[in-house]
Amino acid sequence: MTNELINFIVIESGKTSPVSTFKGEYRDLMTLLKDKLFLDSFGECGGMGRCATCLVEIDSKENGFIFERNETVTLLKHNITEKNCRLSCQMQVDENLEGLYLKII
Ligand code: FES
Repeated sequence: MTNELINFIVIESGKTSPVSTFKGEYRDLMTLLKDKLFLDSFGECGGMGRCATCLVEIDSKENGFIFERNETVTLLKHNITEKNCRLSCQMQVDENLEGLYLKII
């Protein structure tokens, strides 16, 4: 089995950070972002899909991501209706991240 690198850019507080990972390195995107970028007050519910503190905005022409049920409910509860906003704890670390710009909000 080969693990090809997945590369994307994270923008946080105006700072741009290139991130490299591979499929399966982290259980979800929130865990990766916390580990690699040392973010304060990020992912407070530990990935349960309830707190919306792991919100990211995705800069992508296409948004082919599938929303999980918990995610949709949480986004609505927090009045987040933008289609390019996701809970990073509900996103897998896989090839869909390749080349994306993710802004932490
Ligand atoms: S970590 Fe709480 S909703 Fe994602």
